[in-house]
Amino acid sequence: MAPRVVRVWHAHVDDVFDGPGRLARAVARLRPAEQARYARFRHDVDRRMFLLGRVMARAAVGDALGLDPHDWPWREGERGRPEVDLPDCSITFNLAHSGGVVVCALADCGLVGVDVEARERVKLERALVARCCGPEEAADVETHGDQWRDRFLQYWTLKESYLKAVGLGISVPLDEVCFRIDGEPRSCFRGSLAGADAGWAFDLTTLGSTHYLAVAVSPVGGTRPQFVRLPFPTEWMP
Ligand SMILES: CC(C)(COP(=O)(O)OP(=O)(O)OC[C@H]1O[C@@H](n2cnc3c(N)ncnc32)[C@H](O)[C@@H]1OP(=O)(O)O)[C@@H](O)C(=O)NCCC(=O)NCCS
Repeated sequence: MAPRVVRVWHAHVDDVFDGPGRLARAVARLRPAEQARYARFRHDVDRRMFLLGRVMARAAVGDALGLDPHDWPWREGERGRPEVDLPDCSITFNLAHSGGVVVCALADCGLVGVDVEARERVKLERALVARCCGPEEAADVETHGDQWRDRFLQYWTLKESYLKAVGLGISVPLDEVCFRIDGEPRSCFRGSLAGADAGWAFDLTTLGSTHYLAVAVSPVGGTRPQFVRLPFPTEWMP
């Protein structure tokens, strides 16, 4: 049987909104509530990342369903997870943005979550390691000396990808989802998540030299899915 394919599109806002025309056309396609949210962002980059996330997800899901990007109903789950609001729809997707980069992951069955983190996005405090990592992860971060932030961000990105796939977000303590990342990332669950299915598949990569990207996919059929990264096609822009 051919492996499941999980597609992840990515783009930087500066590359897609390279003129006022595209931006205005994309804004015009937002739903009224989205337009109101778009207008509320204080920082231009946050506003454009939100907009690109909507454009990207609408196009990717529409393409998978064989529908116009705006002809499928979008709903927000209980804690804000974006979902396709159609009965018996097996398509799942998730979005993330950081430091101008937007990513959208799409799976044709099972759950999918994605996270992207800019390596230079935040000043990370060392205390976060103890707060967010399990003991083995924290020990591994320690072994990375001056590079501890990078190692920590890799764990962080994986943790968020899982918590977004299950729709929980960071309402769950991050040290309850632990990873080993010497090779293919493997998960182990603790605390309130102890006993969760260990068969999830994860992919951890870099986007250029600036971002970490992690994708989490729920187990279906026992085979590891194929993770495919794709630049967002500019012809998908409105
Ligand atoms: C999901 C969450 C981890 C995102 O964190 P972040 O680092 O700020 O943002 P990211 O760039 O990684 O992801 C943002 C995208 O995740 C998606 N998202 C939002 N909530 C989500 C959830 N619960 N599960 C999965 N995906 C979610 C949205 O598409 C969002 O983008 P958008 O707002 O532009 O549509 C964070 O918002 C969270 O923990 N939410 C849950 C909060 C909660 O539990 N609330 C209690 C009910 S009120």
